[in-house]
Amino acid sequence: MRKQKGTMDKVTYNGLTFEPYITHETIQCRINEIAAQINKDYAGKQPLFLCVLTGAFPFAADLFRSVDIDAEISFIRLKSYEGTSTSGKVKEVMGLTEDLTGRDVIIVEDIIDTGATIKKLVEDLKAKNPASIKVATLLLKPESLKHKLEPDYVGFTIEPKFIIGFGLDLDGLARNLRDIYQLRQES
Ligand code: IMP
Ligand code: MG
Repeated sequence: MRKQKGTMDKVTYNGLTFEPYITHETIQCRINEIAAQINKDYAGKQPLFLCVLTGAFPFAADLFRSVDIDAEISFIRLKSYEGTSTSGKVKEVMGLTEDLTGRDVIIVEDIIDTGATIKKLVEDLKAKNPASIKVATLLLKPESLKHKLEPDYVGFTIEPKFIIGFGLDLDGLARNLRDIYQLRQES
């Protein structure tokens, strides 16, 4: 992280300036609210949280710690292949070792932008015969959505601008920021 002198709260990465957007405390409050909802919705069940690496790991860790029903967690990654079809990227689920048959699955994502990633993931996981699939995303950019999607748990609905921090990266960096920052609008 590169903190700028005199503008203590801004950060720069790769020459781009980002301004504070959502504080760690605000994020934690919202995660607690989502966890309380999940406790209610899954009372008497034992859901399997599926954290989509890499960006969702801080959200998944805090959310998982905040629920108090019996639950399990596992991690998957989506591998992208370029140019294998006219539609561009084809994504394949990597690292799924659990048998999803009859399981109540909660996909944990960092952010839904166009919705392409989560749509493909839900389709792939449905084929594995789970009892149910719900989606928890920390962030949603509704104006960017290109697919009809209604995630079940949404932390924050945000404008379609690039953000970093709390798991979200710029070329692999900034995931370790405690807060979320938004790219500064160049004037
Ligand atoms: P989608 O398939 O277009 O919904 O894209 C979702 C993925 O794009 C996320 O899992 C992120 O990895 C990435 N992404 C989308 N918006 C942002 C952003 O503002 N900052 C960092 N990564 C983003
Ligand atoms: Mg992601």
